[in-house]
Amino acid sequence: MNLTFYGHSCFSIEVCGKKLLFDPFITGNELAKNIDINSIEADYILLSHGHRDHIEDAEAIAKATGATIIAGFEVAMWLADKGISKYHPMNHGGKWTFDFGAVKCVNAIHSSSLPDGSYGGNPMGFIVTSNEKNFYYSGDTALTMDMQLIPKFAKIDFAILCIGDNFTMGIEDSVEAAKMVQTNKVIGVHYDTFGYIKIDQRTAIDFYKKNELELLLPAIGETITI
Ligand code: NI
Ligand code: MN
Repeated sequence: MNLTFYGHSCFSIEVCGKKLLFDPFITGNELAKNIDINSIEADYILLSHGHRDHIEDAEAIAKATGATIIAGFEVAMWLADKGISKYHPMNHGGKWTFDFGAVKCVNAIHSSSLPDGSYGGNPMGFIVTSNEKNFYYSGDTALTMDMQLIPKFAKIDFAILCIGDNFTMGIEDSVEAAKMVQTNKVIGVHYDTFGYIKIDQRTAIDFYKKNELELLLPAIGETITI
């Protein structure tokens, strides 16, 4: 399975021949200035919550690619009002089978207003299961005991976790999250973009190693095989 990192919490994963893009925030991310959003292909765009640093480029990429938006009800309707015709609204606890596999929406402890101040519903994480691999994307969240439910829903091959602290889990809490969801492979996101979330990458990787876990931090624009 190939994962391409586009900076902050934006990444794409190809699942059973379909390209899933998560939380596109590229044009507003100085660190991702070499990424051209017109070059990004997507069949689906999954949005964890309504904050600008997760949805800023969703409308443009959905319109350019014809991708289907998968998001919480309020975020999906907000985009529908902007002329997005292909969307699939979901909410906490719900699961739906798409042509690439299934998506289950799980709890995230965070907030979720939209950029214009509209109510964004509840923030969420996603479990994606498929005939290839299964993974969990935490979205923006605190460490929560609800993560202990995730292995009951699916056997996870890897997790994409926020690690930047201040607004979300930091390194230590993300290690606890990896243990709860029962994976030893983590791709870290939501770090370094702003001053509040700068991390020391070497220290983070070493801390994971000490816990017998692997932390992958692909460069912006890099594709890794997982
Ligand atoms: Ni957020
Ligand atoms: Mn965020």
